[in-house]
Amino acid sequence: MKKLLITGISGLLGSNLAYYFKDKYDVTGFYHKNRVAHKDIKMHAVDMTRPDDVKHNIDLCQPDIIIHCAALADIDQCEEQPELARRCNVETVGHIVNAIKGSPTKLIFISSDAVYDGKKDKYCEDDAVGPLSVYGRTKVGGEQQALKAPRGLVARTNLIGWNILEKRHLAEWMIHELSAGRPIKGFTDVYFAAIYTFKLAELLAAAMAVDLEGVYHFAGSNAISKHDCAVLLAELYGLDKKLIEPISVDQFKLKAKRAKNLILDVSKLQTTLHRNIPTVEESLRRFHADDRDGLPQRLKREFAV
Ligand SMILES: NC(=O)c1ccc[n+]([C@@H]2O[C@H](COP(=O)([O-])OP(=O)(O)OC[C@H]3O[C@@H](n4cnc5c(N)ncnc54)[C@H](OP(=O)(O)O)[C@@H]3O)[C@@H](O)[C@H]2O)c1
Repeated sequence: MKKLLITGISGLLGSNLAYYFKDKYDVTGFYHKNRVAHKDIKMHAVDMTRPDDVKHNIDLCQPDIIIHCAALADIDQCEEQPELARRCNVETVGHIVNAIKGSPTKLIFISSDAVYDGKKDKYCEDDAVGPLSVYGRTKVGGEQQALKAPRGLVARTNLIGWNILEKRHLAEWMIHELSAGRPIKGFTDVYFAAIYTFKLAELLAAAMAVDLEGVYHFAGSNAISKHDCAVLLAELYGLDKKLIEPISVDQFKLKAKRAKNLILDVSKLQTTLHRNIPTVEESLRRFHADDRDGLPQRLKREFAV
């Protein structure tokens, strides 16, 4: 079996990818402050802002492929702690690139739609980046580092998925609040092209099989508003849609500036991989089906220490 290293394995994406890949690859995971375990995955505690720690632990596992998910992914925290954001989101990538220098290890860097300013109707990979936030700027910096690695792949994305820790990401939070009968605000003017983590995993697997390199959008093939996302989830889960208050993001005070319109053209990925790229609605339906099948509980149970 080929060896796959997933950084940020205690996070939403890292854990979901590791669960998907655990039977297909010999998987090792790096976590940092939140210790996690899994019977089929080797785990290392690594502070990836420390170059020696990164080099030592990568040398120990000698991976064929690294998927770098570890990051400071909280957009508002990045705005408050720009230096920490730079160390986590830019420097860690450089530490990996240095650690794998001279080896055949492939690096896949998970980037974000936040590299764009949202002023265009739809973005192609060749369009100029124009991040509005510290987070977005550090993801651009991370991409630049990742592309220094031979055959480096940058995957720009936005996600729907499952936390294994007691945290709630967007869709999880919406369901939790609506299930408790609490009203939520749904932005009618923020469009995003999210993809379900397990659908992203399928696309990454296809990309790994053909050794894809360069910059690609690994996102939903369309975009919907955050409000419509909440409404679709309410419909799927049989929850009360009247609890979702349509609101403009302009009425809401957020620390970091966010683009309103992040629609990503996925035709480059679709053509290269010859794969169907899911719509946001398809991702949400699969998220719901996996929930009914008990996947989020299984993830939490299997990664518990
Ligand atoms: N979530 C989204 O909607 C979204 C959208 C677009 C792109 N992305 C990108 O997708 C990737 C994964 O995001 P996510 O939502 O899964 O993030 P997350 O749930 O916040 O997880 C972040 C992970 O990074 C690890 N980490 C942070 N600082 C570290 C350090 N110094 N050393 C080692 N590990 C460190 C954390 O480890 P501990 O918890 O153990 O400390 C955790 O495992 C990120 O690159 C993010 O930018 C996310």
